[in-house]
Amino acid sequence: MDDSALMIYKAINKTQRIIANASTLDEALRDCLITIVDNAGADGGAIWHADKSDGNRLRPFYWIGPVDLASRSHLPGDGSVGRVFQTQKAERLFEFNALMDVESAIDFKGMPISSMVCVPFSSAEENLGVIQFVNGTGTGSHPFNDEIADVMEILAMTAAMALQENEALAEPWEPGEVVMSLRDITREFVNGDVVTKVLRGVNLDVYDGEFLVLLGESGCGKSTLLNIIGCMDSATSGTFEYLGQDLTNLTQDELTDFRRDNIGFIFQNYNLMPNLTSFRNLTLISELVDNPMDIDDALELVGLSERKKSYPSQMSGGQQQRVSIARALVKKPKIILADEPTAALDYATSIEVLQLMEEVVRDGTTMVMVTHNEEITRMADRVVRMRDGRMHEVTINRHPAHATDLVW
Ligand SMILES: Nc1ncnc2c1ncn2[C@@H]1O[C@H](COP(=O)(O)OP(=O)(O)OP(=O)(O)O)[C@@H](O)[C@H]1O
Ligand SMILES: [Mg+2]
Repeated sequence: MDDSALMIYKAINKTQRIIANASTLDEALRDCLITIVDNAGADGGAIWHADKSDGNRLRPFYWIGPVDLASRSHLPGDGSVGRVFQTQKAERLFEFNALMDVESAIDFKGMPISSMVCVPFSSAEENLGVIQFVNGTGTGSHPFNDEIADVMEILAMTAAMALQENEALAEPWEPGEVVMSLRDITREFVNGDVVTKVLRGVNLDVYDGEFLVLLGESGCGKSTLLNIIGCMDSATSGTFEYLGQDLTNLTQDELTDFRRDNIGFIFQNYNLMPNLTSFRNLTLISELVDNPMDIDDALELVGLSERKKSYPSQMSGGQQQRVSIARALVKKPKIILADEPTAALDYATSIEVLQLMEEVVRDGTTMVMVTHNEEITRMADRVVRMRDGRMHEVTINRHPAHATDLVW
């Protein structure tokens, strides 16, 4: 068997195993796309799902690549994705050529496309959507070729057929208004002659009311990114907007004011003032903002009315974290940022804290949470996996779990 035939054989074999073993359909599709992208060699890929309730508008629910496609959609016939859905014929573009219109050359939300394969994602009975692969990283001047494109088509068919025996796909998530928008954000740290590039071009939108979870290996830049979103740190380059207002060039003082008025923070180590009671820890914040929540109400919300006179050292880790959630809520912030809020807690206490965070999101606050814990991603609306200072994969979770369903 030659190399490419072996690759095809292995990829198909692996896809079948994935579909057979996956516990949810979305997980199966995600794993299939990763397999294909890894085997064929591609910079990015996306699964577009047709929304039957909206004229078959194609929306992405999972993609690989340093872009945020969440608010992107195509109507049947619109662009390559829309055309492939409408005609049910794969489109193959192995090499950028000057005759291509600019529109299709930068179809992947601003990411230039030099090669692309789009295949129908359809079973015998139903047209489910389209799978798109972009920017082949294979060898030679033709990073994608006909053999690889054939494999992609076969795999998409295999996956679609497997769906017949599975539950129906859920309704796609429709993102709300963009609260924050980051474009090409980089962050470098300079120490003498040494320059450490921590963020290497992050493109992320945060949507109103969403529960966004950021995941990635230690050192990939999660906290650095969260600190920039939270105006505790400034980017080296790139732009940053909040509700359409450009914050990129604010001074440190202006950023501090902005943070005070709009953003709540929850830290791994709670960061409460040790010499103040929980009540005083909260008043410290409420005195700084215009329209704070009543402190007794905030403590009641986190179930700590009885503990208003306790000092941090007199409370358990879970109780301290609940005080710090109350402290974030007192501001009535539009957005709460949480950096590993349960990392220092045992399982049962973590679930209590996560339950509380779930309520906060359900009541309308936008939440961005950093975690190491893969299980916690199950309760997010959207999961962003970072790698080496960039967004690497994004999953829109169409069946978010409740905190009480999580097990680890
Ligand atoms: N002030 C700084 N000066 C120099 N390097 C820094 C600074 N802050 C962070 N870094 C480096 O940036 C990289 C990313 O750090 P960051 O804290 O964002 O990672 P993380 O993804 O949050 O990791 P973890 O999961 O361990 O918390 C690390 O290599 C870290 O050493
Ligand atoms: Mg960190």
